[in-house]
This record gives sequence, structure tokens and C-alpha cells, in this order.
Amino acid sequence: MKKETRAIHQPSVDLPEGNEPLVSPIYRSVKYSFPRIADALTIEARRDGFDYARDASPTTRQLERLCAELQGRDDAIAVSTGMAAVWLALLPNLSAGDRVVFFLECYRPIRTMLRERLEQFDIRHSMVSVHDPDAIREAFALEDTKLAIFEAPTNPMLQVPDIQKIVDLAKASDVVTVLDNTFGGLHNHGAYDIDLILHSLTKYASGHGDVMGGVVIGDRKRIGSLKPWAINMGATLDGDAAFMILRGLRTYFLRYRQHCASAHTIAEYLRGHSRVSRVFYPGLSDDPGFALASSQMDGCGGVLSFQMDCTQEICWKFIDALQLFATVSSVGSTESLVAPVKLYFARDLSEQEAERAGITDGTVRLSVGLEHPDDLIADLEQAFACAFE
Ligand SMILES: Cc1ncc(COP(=O)(O)O)c(C=O)c1O
Repeated sequence: MKKETRAIHQPSVDLPEGNEPLVSPIYRSVKYSFPRIADALTIEARRDGFDYARDASPTTRQLERLCAELQGRDDAIAVSTGMAAVWLALLPNLSAGDRVVFFLECYRPIRTMLRERLEQFDIRHSMVSVHDPDAIREAFALEDTKLAIFEAPTNPMLQVPDIQKIVDLAKASDVVTVLDNTFGGLHNHGAYDIDLILHSLTKYASGHGDVMGGVVIGDRKRIGSLKPWAINMGATLDGDAAFMILRGLRTYFLRYRQHCASAHTIAEYLRGHSRVSRVFYPGLSDDPGFALASSQMDGCGGVLSFQMDCTQEICWKFIDALQLFATVSSVGSTESLVAPVKLYFARDLSEQEAERAGITDGTVRLSVGLEHPDDLIADLEQAFACAFE
């Protein structure tokens, strides 16, 4: 063989039997071969084998299996971002003329998707509050309602929906339920009979703010029906990103516990602060969501919001004064993050809707990182002093 050819058809390294790497390799190959065409067509090859990385690849498959198992389901599809997961969970389950029920208390791009993008395809929506069971029941009972998407807890105001109630109402009206469980975490809410659970893996799953991903999790039949859509849409998660998320997941439980503990400490500190009028964190015993969250979840996560009775100018001054909290709209990283809620998450809401959602000019969301909570509290304290000097 000429060297030019060898440079392309490279030697392979086969591991001796039993000589296994502890960390699985990253499969970067786009294409996978079979000895003969006919071999590629067997049931086993089609079920377990690999052909083209947009369809499936071993590293991504490993991540899908882990996510499915953590949520107590059979199967999952990993995609390139959390929003791709939202689109994948919704589109294949909808046709023109169908209605989606979603909640005022939700992540802004999901509202945008439902109120602006899907309108174009004659997919209608009803927006109700997670705290209004009568409105939920009425919306689910509409003949054209096919699907409901909700979060637990909600982004950005940490409201806790009654999952069992939503599932029961949905089942009674034959409505498909989709839970965006990004804030809840991969270990929570799997016991509820929800049809599809999705996550932005960009957050707590990967945990370090250096990779994006999303996943839709469900029973084999539902995931099987989404798979051809995922392949055709091309929203595939690539092997490198899957590897990074798998690496993050090794420390997921340790990190999530610490995020919860630190967020709780900071929520307690804020609750006692003279400049803070209200704290939204379902881990606090006087939070309206405390009882539900305690029964539904193991740990309330690392995100909390709070209100100051102040102008937008003072709120922004407070945020700008923070040194350890970076001003960005993401959550779930090792470092702490801060966001002005009205500007980042409620620009599309009318004044009335924002008020119903509890969002004011002085509402701030914190994603509590893994720094020492004493340092974070000292940083918050100096920012209060600076903003209200
Ligand atoms: C609740 C929720 N769902 C979905 C997403 C979208 O995730 P991604 O940014 O990975 O697309 C986010 C992102 O912040 C989120 O908070």
C-alpha cells in the first residue's frame, strides 16, 4: 500500500479482550461500515447498529441511555440544545388546527415558540396559570387541545405546579403531557405518568457552562415515533458534546446537592434582608410552593428569584455591582449567575401578564454556583450597599 493510501486507511488499535477503558471513547466517526450491504439491513443492525451519525452514534447513544435510566424511562433522543428538544417533543405530536396548552409561568423562548412561531402553521394555544386548575381543566377540555407543556419548577419565578393534578386532568382529556424538567433535574419527577420529559442538558447535566445539549425522554413507543423526525430535522447532538455531558453527569448528584444547599443558604439570607420584599424559592418553608415541592422533588435546585421594591435603574445598579455573579441568562454552571428578570425573561409579556407572573422592575434571578456561600453573601451585601447608597 502506498503511503498516501495508508494515511487514509490507517492502522486500527483493537483492545485485547477484558482490557477496557474506564472512560468510553468519543466516537467522532460520521459513517459506520458493515462488511456487506445485506448485513446493514438485518433487524439487529437496524436496532443496535450505526450507519450515519445524524441517525445515531455510540457516544450519543450512551448519553441517551443514561438520561432515560435516570428518569426511569426506556428511551431518549439527545439533540443539540434544550430548545431543539422542546421543538422535537412538540412538532411530531401536532397538526394544523391543534391546540397546545402552556403556562404563563414558563421560559420565554417557549412562549415565543407557541405565540409566534407555531401560529404560522395554524397551531393554536391557550396560556393559563399553573395556579389556576379551573382554567387548566377548561383549556384541556377544548376539543382541539392535543398537548400541554409545563415546567417544574418554572423559569424564572420558581413556581411549583401540581404535577399529579396536571397529569390527571390531561389524561381525562386525552392530552399529551410534556414536562420541561430542566430546573427539576434528571433525578426528579420521573415517577409521574408524564408522556415526554425533556431537559436542556446545557444546564445542570453538563454543569460547567461549556457545552450545549438537550434530550427528550419517554417510553420506547413515543421516542420511536419521534426518532424519524429527529433524524430528518438534523438536530443531532454530536459525539464530542455528548462526551462532555457524560463527563458532567458523573458529578451531577454531588453538584446538584451543593447547588441546592447553597441556594437555600442564600434564599434564607435574602429573606432576612431589609431591601428584599419577597424571595421565590420553593425550598424555603414559607414559600407557597414548599409543601408541593417537598412532596414532588428531592432538592429544589440552585435557582431562586427575589424582589426589591425599587426602580429598574436601582435593580440594574445592584446587578452591575455584583462581582462574583456574572450577568447572563443561563443557569446551572459552577459559577454564579444573575439576570434582571423583566429585561431577560418578560419582554414579551404585557404589564398585566408580568404582574400576574409576579415580575416587577426589581425582580432578580440568581443561579447559585459552587463558590463558597459566604463569599456570595458578601458579594450580594456589597451590591445592596452600592445600589441603595
Ligand atoms: C426551562 C428551560 N427550558 C429550555 C431551555 C433551553 O435550553 P438551551 O439553551 O439548551 O436551548 C432553557 C434555557 O435556559 C430553560 O431554562
